Amino acid sequence: MAVWLWWFWVLWGLRVAWGVGVNWGSLSSNPLPPAIVVNVLLANNVSKVKLDDADPLALEALSGTGIRVMVGIPNSMLKALNSSKLAASAWVHDNITRYQSKTGGVIIESIAIGDEPFLHIYKGQFQPYVVGAAINIQLALVKARLETRVKVVVPCNADAYLSNPSGLPSEGHFRPDLNSTMLQLLSFLSKNRSPFVINLYPFLNVYQNKSFPIDYAIFRPSSHHLKDGKSTYGNYLDQSIDTLITALSNLGFGKMEVLIGKIGWPTDGSRNATSANARAFLQGLKDHLKSKSGTPLRPNRTIVEEFYILSLLDENERKLINGGFERHWGVFTFDGQAKYQVDLGQGSRDLVNSKGVEYMSLKWCVVNNNKDISNVSAKVQEACAEADCTALLDGGSCFGLGWPGNASYAFNSYYQAWNQTSEGCNFDGLGLITTVDPSVGQCRFPVGLNESRAIASMCNMFLAAMLSAVAFYLISFVS
Ligand SMILES: *[C@@H]1O[C@H](CO)[C@@H](O)[C@H](O)[C@H]1NC(C)=O
Ligand SMILES: *[C@@H]1O[C@H](CO)[C@@H](O)[C@H](O)[C@H]1NC(C)=O
Ligand SMILES: *[C@@H]1O[C@H](CO)[C@@H](O)[C@H](O)[C@H]1NC(C)=O
Ligand SMILES: *[C@@H]1O[C@H](CO)[C@@H](O)[C@H](O)[C@H]1NC(C)=O
Ligand SMILES: *[C@@H]1O[C@H](CO)[C@@H](O)[C@H](O)[C@H]1NC(C)=O
Ligand SMILES: *[C@@H]1O[C@H](CO)[C@@H](O)[C@H](O)[C@H]1NC(C)=O
Ligand SMILES: *[C@@H]1O[C@H](CO)[C@@H](O)[C@H](O)[C@H]1NC(C)=O
Ligand SMILES: *[C@@H]1O[C@H](CO)[C@@H](O)[C@H](O)[C@H]1NC(C)=O
Ligand SMILES: *[C@@H]1O[C@H](CO)[C@@H](O)[C@H](O)[C@H]1NC(C)=O
Ligand SMILES: *[C@@H]1O[C@H](CO)[C@@H](O)[C@H](O)[C@H]1NC(C)=O
Repeated sequence: MAVWLWWFWVLWGLRVAWGVGVNWGSLSSNPLPPAIVVNVLLANNVSKVKLDDADPLALEALSGTGIRVMVGIPNSMLKALNSSKLAASAWVHDNITRYQSKTGGVIIESIAIGDEPFLHIYKGQFQPYVVGAAINIQLALVKARLETRVKVVVPCNADAYLSNPSGLPSEGHFRPDLNSTMLQLLSFLSKNRSPFVINLYPFLNVYQNKSFPIDYAIFRPSSHHLKDGKSTYGNYLDQSIDTLITALSNLGFGKMEVLIGKIGWPTDGSRNATSANARAFLQGLKDHLKSKSGTPLRPNRTIVEEFYILSLLDENERKLINGGFERHWGVFTFDGQAKYQVDLGQGSRDLVNSKGVEYMSLKWCVVNNNKDISNVSAKVQEACAEADCTALLDGGSCFGLGWPGNASYAFNSYYQAWNQTSEGCNFDGLGLITTVDPSVGQCRFPVGLNESRAIASMCNMFLAAMLSAVAFYLISFVS
């Protein structure tokens, strides 16, 4: 028993080697094929990736790569997983066990129960199921003998804690409506030696508060400092982490490790959402975390063992919960072109872009100026309700385009999301398909990705899945 325990600690110690990870989401009208995404990860020496759900195509593509994976469970599944141990076992079997193989497989390190399930805008609808779902998944892992390899975590939004009205970290506490749930959650995490996972978006402070000093958010030397007793805070990350640590301490879990599940800076769709700011933020974040300066409450140590950048790629179907910038978190564009340079694991080398991307034809949809376009606004609204027009917002890359260029942008966005079908460029006869790129300066009119390629790679994935199922069967049979 003692030997096992020792091995467990050795493995756990290796497991949490400091690392930068990326969130790989798939809320796009034409997502990049998983094989191409995985090649981008490998080419840039990205060691960790976090998926919002157990997408079989993504997991198959990650198989055998050595990339470490955090797999998410969508909030919508929490109710079923809370009420049924069987459902939890089936989830683990289908989405974790299936990918374990002695010859590589997928290195799944952790399972994220829900995606910010306590977010205040959800009005508590998932709250009663979170801890129960986590417990059932943990039990299913024990049954599958995977509990030493896979950790169960619950990513929380930073809105789970606060320090009103002073804003001082020393007065941090969890949101009162979460009090008893948090106590259960922290007991669960502590018992299983799992970290507290927090998603932090300092950009939101800048976005929501015009007088918030951007330098303080972005790790630049700032004239703004927060004094809290003997402590002085020089950046927003430390302030927020220490507020969390005080909240944890108040409930008796002041020593719990903290891990950042999502952190980033958007590049479009709002003022201050620029590549230059994003680069400065991520560089500052990395330098700060690597310096082992700690925070005033946890000095001279690593603040977080791991953080996952939001996001690898832009996703044009992300919900606009806070603003248009939500679709522009990517370090890379939707088609895998680096927007700026940052170290994802490749060191000082430039980021490597995606290779072998197949686009649809070089065709765009624009407003037909030969028609009476006095009523085009209604059509623009229809297009933007379904397609992504966030680059047109104040501060966005196409904000200065003017009319009717901005109407053309909306039409094209819709047309590409509709796979360049002619119905996608109708708009009661006001649309016109052109082969002349309407892009102007920073304002890029995208061309969508070709899906035939995605379908081909889907067939390969299916074959791989069949083979791995057979291999799994043979291994289980032999052992
Ligand atoms: C969660 O599951 C437990 C065990 O099945 C059940 O007793 C409880 O009522 C469930 N919670 C909710 C809010 O449904
Ligand atoms: C495995 O995860 C996928 C993706 O979230 C989900 O659709 C599927 O239902 C899960 N399997 C089980 C048995 O719950
Ligand atoms: C939250 O829980 C703590 C510890 O159990 C308790 O001291 C505090 O009064 C609670 N706060 C609220 C608002 O329920
Ligand atoms: C905005 O930020 C400033 C500087 O941190 C702070 O003093 C002020 O209280 C904030 N305003 C709001 C409404 O949060
Ligand atoms: C942030 O946005 C404001 C308002 O547009 C602008 O005045 C300021 O220069 C911007 N700062 C940075 C660093 O982008
Ligand atoms: C942290 O390190 C600094 C510089 O090495 C040292 O002066 C300080 O006493 C240390 N603080 C703690 C709490 O260990
Ligand atoms: C790749 O990342 C690992 C750590 O994750 C690092 O040890 C190694 O030096 C990196 N390789 C290159 C070529 O940057
Ligand atoms: C514009 O809309 C108005 C009101 O729906 C309609 O009466 C008018 O005929 C339309 N004009 C054109 C050119 O379609
Ligand atoms: C397009 O530009 C015109 C003129 O600048 C503006 O009034 C209109 O609101 C813009 N529409 C969109 C969808 O951005
Ligand atoms: C575009 O093509 C993809 C893949 O074939 C398909 O999933 C999607 O539904 C299509 N979109 C529309 C709007 O037809």
